Amino acid sequence: MNHQRKILVTGGAGFIGSHTITALVSAGFTPIIADDFRNADSSVPSRIEKIIGHLPEFIMIDVCDKEALKQVFEQHAFAGIIHFAAYKAVGESVEFPLKYYRNNLLGLINTLELAVQFKVPNFVFSSSCTVYGEPGELKEVTEDLPKGLAASPYGNTKIIGEEILKDVHHSNSGLNIISLRYFNPIGAHPSGLIGEFPIGKPNNLLPMVTGTAIGKYDQLTVFGNDYPTSDGTCVRDYIHVMDLATAHVKALEFLESGKSSFETINVGTGAGTTILKVIQVFEAISEVKLNWKFGPKRPGDVVEIFAKADKANHLLNWYPKYTLEDSVQHAWNWEKKLQND
Ligand code: UD1
Repeated sequence: MNHQRKILVTGGAGFIGSHTITALVSAGFTPIIADDFRNADSSVPSRIEKIIGHLPEFIMIDVCDKEALKQVFEQHAFAGIIHFAAYKAVGESVEFPLKYYRNNLLGLINTLELAVQFKVPNFVFSSSCTVYGEPGELKEVTEDLPKGLAASPYGNTKIIGEEILKDVHHSNSGLNIISLRYFNPIGAHPSGLIGEFPIGKPNNLLPMVTGTAIGKYDQLTVFGNDYPTSDGTCVRDYIHVMDLATAHVKALEFLESGKSSFETINVGTGAGTTILKVIQVFEAISEVKLNWKFGPKRPGDVVEIFAKADKANHLLNWYPKYTLEDSVQHAWNWEKKLQND
């Protein structure tokens, strides 16, 4: 039966995509990966091969090239699609908004058009808690919270992407859809064989923490120290990337069960953690004294946000397996391994 559950994974060579490939294979799916590697490392396929024991099918295409993507649909009968392929750097999106709108929206539209044309039943979309904007008083956000104003063009592509999905679903397209709103994915595969490959200086906290500790960067700047939180630093919901990967598998299985044809689901642990707490956990685990200082607030940062994850728990029967300590340990293992590669 397994060979009949081919899943198209666009952007499957990226950070979340590559981890999801391993989870899909463990669950008996056959991922077919469409990625042009513009934001992924060329070593990812062989690294995945080491984890799963065989090389999955990688197709080097840009999903914005509809003709090339169509050929992939002609060659395979997909049981589902996970659509990761998109740009994700907030700051860059402010500088180059059209680059973001073109890539993220055109890639989505092409994939959806072909999904409908080729009658693929199930579709999972890579969304983000960025769609909530600044949640205000309510820190623990539920899926029914009205979407906020995105702080960036990147965020807008996720908001518009979700609207497109809703309209496609309403049009009786026959496509069952789940949009997963990720909180802050961190960590790496427990094997240490895959992890995040930031291109240039990372924007995200964890790669900056581990990269500073290993000596790639001189110092970590903690953006802001007088936020109205327990220690003055921002609060986020950090989730292990393998737990996030598993959520995609559960989402596909849920759609296959036929229990619902459209859902939007938060994927977070439900716990908020300050930046200083992340640093404290890192220092305890790594036994490295991190070189960090406070700096000015980063424009557009949300003060505090974490997931109400009940929907993922109850609907998908998804629960995170890893703790913050596990996540930080795996991120650190990965950083050290990369240095020696
Ligand atoms: C960011 C994006 C979000 C995106 C997510 C993807 C912004 C405003 N938001 O979320 O849209 O979906 O990444 O992973 O960029 N921090 C420091 N020093 C650093 C780096 C980060 O203090 O060098 C702080 C930030 O100010 C923030 C926290 O660490 O309070 C987490 O930052 P980050 O990892 O960039 O994630 P988000 O800002 O939550």
